[in-house]
Amino acid sequence: MLKTHTCGELRVEHIGQTVTLAGWVHRRRDHGGLSFIDLRDHFGLTQIVFNPATAPDAHKLAYDLRAEYVIRVTGVVAARPEANPALATGAIEVNVTRAEILNEAKNPPFLINIEENVDESLRLKYRFLDLRHARIQRNLTIRHRTIKFMRDYLDARGFIEIETPILIKSTPEGARDYVVPSRVHPGQFYALPQSPQQLKQLLMVAGFDRYYQIARCFRDEDLRADRQPEFTQLDLEMAFPEQDDILNLIEGCFTELIPAVTPHKRILSPFPRLTYDQAIARYGTDKPDLRFGMELIDASDIAGKTGFQIFANAVSGGGQVKAIRVPGCAAYTRKQTDELTEMARAKGAQGLATIALASEGIKSPIAKFLNEDEMRALIERMNAQTGDLLLFVADKPKVVADALGALRLHLGQRLNLAEKDLLAFAWVVDFPLFEWNAETQRWDATHHLFTSPKPRDLPLLDTDPGRVHADCYDLVCNGFELASGSIRIHRRDVQEKVLAILQYSRENAFARFGHMLTAFEYGAPPHGGIAPGIDRLVALMCDEPSIRDVIAFPKTAAATDLMTDAPSAISPEQLKELKLQMTNGK
Ligand code: AMO
Ligand code: AMP
Repeated sequence: MLKTHTCGELRVEHIGQTVTLAGWVHRRRDHGGLSFIDLRDHFGLTQIVFNPATAPDAHKLAYDLRAEYVIRVTGVVAARPEANPALATGAIEVNVTRAEILNEAKNPPFLINIEENVDESLRLKYRFLDLRHARIQRNLTIRHRTIKFMRDYLDARGFIEIETPILIKSTPEGARDYVVPSRVHPGQFYALPQSPQQLKQLLMVAGFDRYYQIARCFRDEDLRADRQPEFTQLDLEMAFPEQDDILNLIEGCFTELIPAVTPHKRILSPFPRLTYDQAIARYGTDKPDLRFGMELIDASDIAGKTGFQIFANAVSGGGQVKAIRVPGCAAYTRKQTDELTEMARAKGAQGLATIALASEGIKSPIAKFLNEDEMRALIERMNAQTGDLLLFVADKPKVVADALGALRLHLGQRLNLAEKDLLAFAWVVDFPLFEWNAETQRWDATHHLFTSPKPRDLPLLDTDPGRVHADCYDLVCNGFELASGSIRIHRRDVQEKVLAILQYSRENAFARFGHMLTAFEYGAPPHGGIAPGIDRLVALMCDEPSIRDVIAFPKTAAATDLMTDAPSAISPEQLKELKLQMTNGK
């Protein structure tokens, strides 16, 4: 190696040793005739001292050094006159005897580890510089340890890693496919897998007992902070499992993984389990943030009987009146409650009714519609105390859930109710198999179309698909969906029935899923699995609000790669070879 130690390695026990370090010039300071350089590498920073009296040549060279130059220095480790406790190597410095420049650097567009709030597009354009940041180096190291932990954990439990192809036939899982034209078969296209779903099921049909893969998935969908067009799953599948086998496996893995890789994080143990209905009822969402309470409380029975028409009408029309109790916010101003009302409206609510238990008495725009007993009953239902602010929404259950769910998240954040280092994993189970899509006027699969109905609900497939529950489960954490999985359909007749409900014609079903239907006729075992999203998991472990900061080379929200400038046009020759013609974007 060109060096004897790393820039994060030297301690007091190295004092007196002659060492050689190599790295990047992080920062230079001159004072008292000496030049000081913080030398940086992947492992940390070490202070290097250039003294004109003892090493005049090296000191001369120090004057040429600019930020991000790559240098190599040899010198003697010495105690620092004043230790810097903020730095792992802060007790020592290296007095240079010899120095050389290995490579010069242009003035960087931003200063590594020093400038905050650099525009993200600039960071992504110069990602190779952005990746020099200690924070991102740490994130990618945590990602590596996480994946390594998973591999070891699964290997020890009899799982084998099997690679599945990237060029496949379309695997619809709710998003659009990325497609790849075939040169050999003009006019025909491969699709990039949205996940290895079908292939892992076929591996179970093939007699592999336990499969996993660190799998890249591709989805052409609207992007957000927690979504990338290509992302990574820990994809796994088991033959002959029951739901609990898969839940226990993942819960066991994450329960050991978190303290091993990010020991400052706390988890709930065991992971709470909620049914889908409970999650919606208590948190207004199927991916609840369980780091704090402020649950949705049903007051329909009381509110429906009051003289307040909005409440009474909502309940008599089959709707609900529910509320959250916001501790300590009774003194919110009109402007503040108006903001909350706007938030509720943005989620479809007609309005937001507030009751503030101020120290000087109850303040509420709806007090005039309620008699004393009704007001007391509502306050009692909410378990409210002086200082609390109660927020009520009356509407159809979905609107009530969406509006109060959003207010709960907003207020939880605003009031800092979430413990920062808690990863509140929880299971959500018993999802409905189908969701009604009002836009297209048909059923969609809630998870995906290979998910098995609960055996007890099989008869309902013919009569009332909306009431069929699925053998399906999500792992959620701090308000994010981290993993989804299910027990799969393994019988051709059931799969055909589900495809029919999703309005696939027999021909279309066979054209797209013929290989699956055929495979189910050759002794397909009962099977099931799950796929945690690794980017989301690692982002939570690293406290990163965006998964882009735990991916080495991520894409922008517009699915572009600013560093290599992808996507980009291809040459007329390439187009010709593929027998493709451009229509000028039309
Ligand atoms: P699903 O589509 O729910 O299930 O995906 C599983 C997990 O993958 C992560 N994820 C994403 N992460 C980043 N960017 C995206 N665009 C993105 N989309 C999904 C999430 C999600 O919970 N084949 C099934 C799994 C199975 O049934 O075994 C599947 O892919 O963390
Ligand atoms: P109004 O009768 O329009 O003056 O409304 C009385 C109060 O009820 C106002 O504070 C409204 O914001 C609130 N409100 C209106 N519609 C709803 C609703 N669907 N749910 C809860 N509160 C509502």
